[in-house]
Amino acid sequence: MYQNHKNRASDREKKIYSELQEKRKKSLEGGGEKRVENQHKKGKLTARERIELLVDENSFVEIDSLVTHQSTKFNLENDKPLGDGVVTGHATISERQVCIYSQDFTVFGGSLGRAQATKICKLMDLAIKTGNPIIGILDSGGARIQEGVASLAGYGDIFFRNTQASGVIPQISIILGPCAGGAVYSPALTDFVLMNKENSFMFVTGPEVVKTVSGEDISFYDLGGSIVHSKKTGVSHLVGESEEETLDLARKLLSYLPSNNLNDPPFDPETSEESEQTSLRELIPDEENEPYDMKSIIGTIVDSDSFLELNEDWAKNIIVGFARMQGFTVGIIANQPLFLGGAIDYNAADKSSRFIRFCDSFNIPILTFVDVPGFLPGVKQEHEGIIRHGAKLLYAYSEATIPKISIIVRKAYGGAYIVMSSKHLGTDINLAWPSAQIAVMGAEGAVRILYKRRLKEEKEPEKVLEEFTQEFKEEFANPYQAAELGYIDKVIFPEETRSEIIASLHLLQNKREQSPKRKHGISPV
Ligand code: HXC
Repeated sequence: MYQNHKNRASDREKKIYSELQEKRKKSLEGGGEKRVENQHKKGKLTARERIELLVDENSFVEIDSLVTHQSTKFNLENDKPLGDGVVTGHATISERQVCIYSQDFTVFGGSLGRAQATKICKLMDLAIKTGNPIIGILDSGGARIQEGVASLAGYGDIFFRNTQASGVIPQISIILGPCAGGAVYSPALTDFVLMNKENSFMFVTGPEVVKTVSGEDISFYDLGGSIVHSKKTGVSHLVGESEEETLDLARKLLSYLPSNNLNDPPFDPETSEESEQTSLRELIPDEENEPYDMKSIIGTIVDSDSFLELNEDWAKNIIVGFARMQGFTVGIIANQPLFLGGAIDYNAADKSSRFIRFCDSFNIPILTFVDVPGFLPGVKQEHEGIIRHGAKLLYAYSEATIPKISIIVRKAYGGAYIVMSSKHLGTDINLAWPSAQIAVMGAEGAVRILYKRRLKEEKEPEKVLEEFTQEFKEEFANPYQAAELGYIDKVIFPEETRSEIIASLHLLQNKREQSPKRKHGISPV
């Protein structure tokens, strides 16, 4: 009797365990061997292969692998792949928890139906609740055509959560295939978009629609490839040469970020190394308009090899990125005299203000290196809205309550002096090098305005202009008037910069600043 019962139990056990075994196996098949082969032929990895490359070895825990769609139209009731075209779960990256979803192009082209959307939303809710970053790997034909409005609703639910998660947990989108139609707005709502050089595409309307509507003939790549989004639109923050490199960049990016808005960013003074000290004094040219590479200054001051630049090829006149200073994560913003003389244009204002708002939300101190002749003059700039865009930068600096430190290395003229993290916008520590020139405008321009009539009357106007310009420079083109007024806290030798910044970061570590109570301000977006 006992033996029979045992045999029956063990038969049942065998059955229930083999059933699970079978389902697990099935869920790993995606869209089947042939489609996986096709994916590889296109030079693309599968959803699971990508996750494996991204996370710490054997750390991925999948959830919802048995979810299927409930659709019955277009014979879909006979085609119910387990997992429904997206792999979701949690894992660690450099031993820190993250939530991940990865769309599976081998299942209905990774298209998003109700079930896929529900899986992604569930994961986003989990990430928000547990305070862990969310990383999405996108490779999808967009809304699942067969499911109609149910799939549109799914996108809406995701956009809503992207917005709820904004400023609460870091959100990273890695585009490794098509991302078309309204689907692009999920990555656009996240904090960072990474693309693979060859096979990532993002556009609201594809080449065929473009051709029908406007007659323009354009390829996928030229319409919305990585070059377009890293150089022209600024949508993509980082581009990898291959899928492996793109996933590596995501790991690197994450190493600077806290898990959520209530945590501090990772801090590891043990691994920080000082950069090799080239002479900072020699990096600044004598001539006020001579270009030089601001990145050499940044590279010398921050921890060795710690600078990760974002949006490197877009709005190159301003530099933004993360770095470390004796192990502290910092956000860097710097004018770049190599492009447009470092003047601020509407794209530079957009790029830097968004970056400031990210740092402010996630407790990352901001270091600003200033060498700016002003806002970029020109009809295009005025008509494209430099007033509106420039205001975003003023707003972002003024609103930010995280530690703010600025260093004026050369020019800081006019409105751009104010906007680039001046004391007046609540910057905590304002430093300047002796080469700093803080003035309403450049010396020659000022003399031409002030002595316009006199110069007209002079026999040798050029000689007089030069004389007056020199006098003006001696009087105003230096940091001392600002230091006398307390707008600059300290004029420092360039070689003192690193130690001054580190001391300031220690001082500001426990900074607390309350903004006036309100629902939210109205950033001039
Ligand atoms: C259902 C889809 C699909 C979709 C692709 N597939 N897109 N199934 N809904 N949206 C399926 C194909 O039928 C095919 O199935 C498989 O995925 C692979 O597609 P291919 O076309 O063979 O692949 P490829 O040549 O690489 O081209 C990929 C593609 C193309 C560029 C993504 O499939 C495409 O243009 N798809 C439609 C894109 C689109 O217009 N989506 C709607 C956008 S509007 P089999 O069975 O043959 O493997 C939108 C609105 C969102 O998304 C609004 C949010 C607010």
